[in-house]
Amino acid sequence: MAPACGADIDGLDLSEPTPDAIDLVRTALADHGVIFVRDQRLDPMQQVRLTAMFGEVLRVPYIAPLDGHPDVIAVLKEADEQRISTFGGTWHSDFSFLDEPPGLTLLHAIEVPATGGDTLWSSQVAAHDALSDAMQRLLAPLRAVQTGWPHGTGGPAPGAAVSRSVVMTRNDPSADREVLHPVVRVHPITGRAALFVNPVYTQRFEGMTVEESRPLLQFLFDHAVRPEFTCRLRWTPGTLAIWDNRCLLHLAINDYDGRRRLLHRTTTAGERPVGPT
Ligand code: SIN
Repeated sequence: MAPACGADIDGLDLSEPTPDAIDLVRTALADHGVIFVRDQRLDPMQQVRLTAMFGEVLRVPYIAPLDGHPDVIAVLKEADEQRISTFGGTWHSDFSFLDEPPGLTLLHAIEVPATGGDTLWSSQVAAHDALSDAMQRLLAPLRAVQTGWPHGTGGPAPGAAVSRSVVMTRNDPSADREVLHPVVRVHPITGRAALFVNPVYTQRFEGMTVEESRPLLQFLFDHAVRPEFTCRLRWTPGTLAIWDNRCLLHLAINDYDGRRRLLHRTTTAGERPVGPT
């Protein structure tokens, strides 16, 4: 779909996946980071079954699941929710503040606007590869503090303009915990190095203040999402996107006020991120 990341796969029916189909998707994910399969009819149970074929299903904390489906969350913005933030509307890697952040995310479009509501991904392998050798050497030993502040005690004030449709825990002190992850993460399958910082959850470098960290972190946040590292998906109902949070950032574009957008999201468990040796 784009040189840095993203591939369309045609001719798959993932409601009844064969082992060959799963292998094909795994290989494509290793090569492209994110894949798209159009016209999939998946109910929540089928989506969970499919997710389990890629790894242990992760029941994400801090977000209320779909009724009767504890492993599925609804990514929803209603048509009447206007001039407010949308879920996933800043570049991030899903729940990177967990000790073991999610591996894969599966996002299945149920109802999407005719125009708008696209999603972008950015390859953090491409972003890392594009850095100078000197910058790569500087970053290699660093770790950064990640926290789940949107769900913690420093999160959005009550009444702040955030969507009511994704029911997120607020004021949970467990989300304020500071988790240290490497700034450069080595992918457990491909062995490739990827940047692993994002402007939602990464606060500062280990041992430094927020102010001391800001210039270099801000450079990395900007660099990480240069257009040449990205791909962009125009959703249609039934589109399924599967991506690897270990080597990509993503962003939901909030440009569809007045229209409803609903997708179902599942995730697989990941592992504690490991830096370069
Ligand atoms: C997410 O960040 O998981 C949601 C992305 C989207 O809604 O496009």
